[in-house]
Amino acid sequence: MKPEDVKPASIAAQALGWIDDQSKAIVAPLHTSTTYIRDPDNQYRTGRTYARDHNPSFDQPEAVLTALERGHASLLFSSGMAAATAVFQALTPGDHVVAPKVMYWSLRNWLMNFATHWGLRVEFIDMGNAAEVERAVRPGATKLVWIESPANPLWTITDIAHAAEVAHRAGAIVAVDSTIASPVLSQPLTLGADIVMHAATKYLNGHSDVVAGTLTTREDSALWQRIRSIRAQLGGIAGPFEAWLLTRGMRTLFVRVRAACASAQSMAEHFAQHPRIEKVLYPGLPDFPGHAIAKRQMHGGFGGMLSICVRGSGSRSGEQAAIATAANVRLWKRATSLGGVESLVEHRASVEGAGTPAPSNLLRLSVGIEDTGDLIADLEQALEQ
Ligand SMILES: Cc1ncc(COP(=O)(O)O)c(C=O)c1O
Repeated sequence: MKPEDVKPASIAAQALGWIDDQSKAIVAPLHTSTTYIRDPDNQYRTGRTYARDHNPSFDQPEAVLTALERGHASLLFSSGMAAATAVFQALTPGDHVVAPKVMYWSLRNWLMNFATHWGLRVEFIDMGNAAEVERAVRPGATKLVWIESPANPLWTITDIAHAAEVAHRAGAIVAVDSTIASPVLSQPLTLGADIVMHAATKYLNGHSDVVAGTLTTREDSALWQRIRSIRAQLGGIAGPFEAWLLTRGMRTLFVRVRAACASAQSMAEHFAQHPRIEKVLYPGLPDFPGHAIAKRQMHGGFGGMLSICVRGSGSRSGEQAAIATAANVRLWKRATSLGGVESLVEHRASVEGAGTPAPSNLLRLSVGIEDTGDLIADLEQALEQ
């Protein structure tokens, strides 16, 4: 079998099949050293000088991700936020940026409260609307179009290929937060994106025990080198143990994501008909706006994330009903975050506060890999109470 014929699921399961040179171990050792020996003639032939930039613990997870995303190179960061903000910090004050109104709220807050302060001109638009993308991108002025697809917490789908075409025509680049899709379902670089970002804290690691982030680039560029320097200079790097755990987590990425997708699809279809539910938001439902685009750019499922809008009844508002439903789950865990093996439920408006696009009766569901029937039954009993 030729190396280029190996399927992504096999690449992930074997973490590229790396063998440790010295011990012949099939699991890489953990490198905790912060520094590396200099040759007697004053050279650094290994290319490694200091762990803030050249940590061998990053080599394997970065290489696995580069292969899965079909990119040129990857960088591992201390968190998804560290990875995402490095892209914006690599721009120049005055640059125009187009970003979605519906996106991970903490990054939206940072863009509104810090990036604009620093001089970026950030324009928030409905990224699910192709005409708005065309209107907002300004030739010569726009330097970056930031996409999240599907986007938290309404799961808005952006047509990545179309946005890339519009951005490139205007001289801008496209970066995609693909945390929710994961490399199992979507490879934004093959759709024309320039950079793909993951909160590796979520599906890539998958076990709710690592905070990390990643960027992968389609090609080497001056911008990519600036991002590399930002990581080295600001030091937003993952620890060696986190990097090691992330490689271990990615070995099971495909089975976890496929199981979560199948379960989420069944749950979305089940609860779409439920009398206590006003609306189910899930890209896998045929009447979901963006379903046709999702079908084109996601393969093998529509993700493990969905939201339900709970109906009020009698004197109880939809918001009260949603919070009461979350209070009554037994198997689901009432917690923030997503992409782990355990299913989580969260009243999103309570987390995001003012300015959230989440309706007050919305519960965000991160579907794990438990038995689908158990998950449905638990939510059913919580809705009944
Ligand atoms: C879609 C998305 N992007 C980015 C982030 C930020 O990642 P981290 O929490 O690792 O900084 C999150 C975290 O919830 C997320 O859901």
